[in-house]
Amino acid sequence: MKLNIAVLPGDGIGPEITQQSVKVLKAVADRFDHEFQFDDALVGAAAIDLLENPLPEATLDLCHKSDAVLFGAIGHPKYDNNPDAKVRPEQGLLKLRKELGLFANIRPVRTYEKLLDQSPLKRERIAGADMVIYRELTGGIYFGEKSTAQDGKSAQDLCFYSEEEIDRIAHLAFKAAQQRRNKLTLVDKANVLETSRLWRKTVKTIAKEYPDVELDFLFVDNAAMQMILNPTQFDVILTENMFGDILSDEASVIGGSIGLLASASVGNKNAMFEPIHGSYPQATGKGIANPVASILSAAMLLDHFDLTEEANAVRKAVEVSIQLNVCTQDINKDNHYTTEKVGDFLEGLIAEIDNININDENMNLGQMTII
Ligand code: IPM
Ligand code: MG
Repeated sequence: MKLNIAVLPGDGIGPEITQQSVKVLKAVADRFDHEFQFDDALVGAAAIDLLENPLPEATLDLCHKSDAVLFGAIGHPKYDNNPDAKVRPEQGLLKLRKELGLFANIRPVRTYEKLLDQSPLKRERIAGADMVIYRELTGGIYFGEKSTAQDGKSAQDLCFYSEEEIDRIAHLAFKAAQQRRNKLTLVDKANVLETSRLWRKTVKTIAKEYPDVELDFLFVDNAAMQMILNPTQFDVILTENMFGDILSDEASVIGGSIGLLASASVGNKNAMFEPIHGSYPQATGKGIANPVASILSAAMLLDHFDLTEEANAVRKAVEVSIQLNVCTQDINKDNHYTTEKVGDFLEGLIAEIDNININDENMNLGQMTII
């Protein structure tokens, strides 16, 4: 398959992690005979510095004409600490999502046996947790009208949703549930918010088309608690933009590190693949950032084009690396590897993927030829 992939490394650790994903995708192309072409473009603070625009036209054009976008991370402390900044890196990402029509953000959360004790949550609570969050990505309070009063003493953000916006992501979430454990939980705040009541009504109607999917509802405050108390109860979570943002960071605690959580943002025409973590400015250039969230996002890119064997090869390589402790310091404190080394290791594994049996208990570093 021939794919044109726009690469938007962005800020902070974005460039170093994205570089590892490109490396892994190139290994996939070699191993499985594909032709992937990568074109880089500026976004975020990096783009503001050079062009005073967090999403330059050239970047948007490239994304529109590419088959997929691989996105790194966005954000810089000099904007976070300046509430008066008129231009912010995050605007680049939000505009990109909106312009490309990426209305569904899909965030899978799972555990790895080897990492169960990394989580601050008890092993017995999280073992077996396996869910996917469908977060609405182009509506709600993120995109509603915003204003600050002239005297600067009050401000407002409007939360708006239309039936159509709810409809299109709800169908995707129901279909995902059918491929999984047939359970869908709508997370909202229908006891308080009008928009949440619209979500409930719309989703209940759509549910009739999916009689094999069990639908339940949770208020977001309760959902936040349940996520920690009993995460194995969740299969597919469907929720609006802001709740999904918050819940997915919370859910990352289950897997042991936010550095493992990947995402796909899809629309009717375009698709973008990005880790859920931010730009982690304190780690920039230190080689300590975990590239796995980005690499697993690249696996979701492969899935998107039905390159299932290829995507599975990437996921299998990640499992092997975790099994063998070839991990960055967020999950391997004692004897950790750098961002680049983890990328190199995964790249090497892809080439040999057919010869690797993850269930082999004897598997250890000494027997691997790759490192
Ligand atoms: C995310 C991020 C973004 C969001 C930020 C960087 C604007 O937190 O992708 O979850 O809030 O959507
Ligand atoms: Mg977030």
